[in-house]
Amino acid sequence: MTFDAAAPIDPTSTPAWADLLAHHDALDVDLRAWFAADPKRAERMSHRLADLHVDLSKNTVTPATLDLLVQLARETNVPERLAAMFAGEHVNTTEDRAVLHTALRRPAGAEPPLVVDGQHVDDDVQAELAKMYAFAEKVRSGTWRGLTGERVRTVVNIGIGGSDLGPVMAYEALKPYVQEGVEVRFVSNIDPTDIARATRDLDPATTLFVVASKTFTTLETLTNARLARAWLWARLEAAGDVDDATSRAAAVAHHFVAVSTALDKVAAFGIDPANAFGFWDWVGGRYSVDSTIGTSLAIAIGPDAFAQLLAGFHAVDEHVRTTPIERNVPVLMGLLNVWYVNVVGAHTHAVLPYSQYLHRFPAYLQQLTMESNGKSVRWDGSPVTTQTGEVFWGEPGTNGQHAFYQLLHQGTRIVPADFIAFATPNDPLRDGANHDADVHSLLLANFLAQTKALAFGKTPDEVRAEGTPEHLVPARTFAGNRPTTSIMAPLLTPSVLGQLIALYEHITFVQGAVWGIDSFDQWGVELGKTLALQIAPALTGDAAALAAQDPSTAALIAYSRAHRG
Ligand code: F6P
Repeated sequence: MTFDAAAPIDPTSTPAWADLLAHHDALDVDLRAWFAADPKRAERMSHRLADLHVDLSKNTVTPATLDLLVQLARETNVPERLAAMFAGEHVNTTEDRAVLHTALRRPAGAEPPLVVDGQHVDDDVQAELAKMYAFAEKVRSGTWRGLTGERVRTVVNIGIGGSDLGPVMAYEALKPYVQEGVEVRFVSNIDPTDIARATRDLDPATTLFVVASKTFTTLETLTNARLARAWLWARLEAAGDVDDATSRAAAVAHHFVAVSTALDKVAAFGIDPANAFGFWDWVGGRYSVDSTIGTSLAIAIGPDAFAQLLAGFHAVDEHVRTTPIERNVPVLMGLLNVWYVNVVGAHTHAVLPYSQYLHRFPAYLQQLTMESNGKSVRWDGSPVTTQTGEVFWGEPGTNGQHAFYQLLHQGTRIVPADFIAFATPNDPLRDGANHDADVHSLLLANFLAQTKALAFGKTPDEVRAEGTPEHLVPARTFAGNRPTTSIMAPLLTPSVLGQLIALYEHITFVQGAVWGIDSFDQWGVELGKTLALQIAPALTGDAAALAAQDPSTAALIAYSRAHRG
């Protein structure tokens, strides 16, 4: 089946949809009773996904709910659409492109070879990876030298969106694997503060800039790249190392590399195409951390760890590709999200890593999920027939517990939440003052306590039994039945990180497939970009640009001009 021309199936018109609504009306959600009635519920609803242990049992669903959701997936052609994506069909219909981030992590020599639109995808992927790995090794070993002969100590990744969030999230997550003496900083915002702060204590002689931009047209990235280049030239000139056009070009050659699908634009910026790493239009920005967009990460953690990251992605891809959907973990999790958004009425979804290293993971997932599924039209341009993408958000536990968990436990809204934790600490520490407690166990105890409290709550009678005065019983009661998924792994390794990212990529895909939307375009970010370019001249006094604005915008521009120090 090809999907570029086919109209999406309206999920709300399927028999499964009607059955799900009726099932929900009849469902008396009671996790305490369900666990009591089925002692094997946790075992039955826990799954192995590569190194991940995924426990779905604290979700507010029964086996019958899951059967109906699987039926919905069948009736909306989710398996066929997954197969189409893996095969390189143009499932990104509005841009008429294949969607092949899964090809980025196929191992060398995978059979049968993947040939899409005449391109030998595997060969191209392996060639570009080899080029990136060789470069990363040169920087790590000190073979790559700056203009004055010094080795690189700091890499500054300049990019935004997928060209920033993936690399920075993974760099933070894999800090224990970062080579001593190599620091990576990330500049994304067009707020000049970002690059100013990132560079102010740097030595240009030991700094390498990686300009990462799929299109190489993004305003923020190109502006920051020009600011970085000006900073480099000015600082090297002040040190007497640069004094003319030739030495300036040599400085760029030694201190700038680029990652892009538009190598002509890289050359126009002045970066030698020999120092540029390519990828392809079938890799979406938010799906690109495992492409050469990860160059700064590859420098930090090295080719071996990067290869393990890719292997982790691939293990999950293989599970998704080969496992029947009723046991397919990302498919089940995507369907659970559909249940919560469309049937239960949830508006948001929390992702709560009990790992400080994953502190940027929720931000990364925001682009992955919300840029993918925040759509009101389907892939054929017709309006969606139901609610689509929920708001993803989160913070590492236990910090979130002291901030927003109150709402999760006792608020009026249901917020499905994914809890993520690792059995082994990357940093094993003990607290001598607290009975020599293993601090990681305290972290895990909190992870377990929260999902338990959310699921099973605390009844008024249990509150009374503690001697609580009657007037305080309602405030101290926990209704429970708040849905959570627990995801655990032995340790946060590069491979496990790849598995986690791939898990959420496929969850996102499944939701989009049910809703009939193209999860791979992002037209919704275009209007703001165009308007910003029209408004910018008005801020610096262009009367015609000012006159073109609506009254509110014009007044805000006037305020900015009047109060600019
Ligand atoms: O925000 C829109 C977007 O196109 C994202 O999808 C993308 O990740 C980001 O901008 C950066 O784009 P580029 O890598 O082309 O600079």
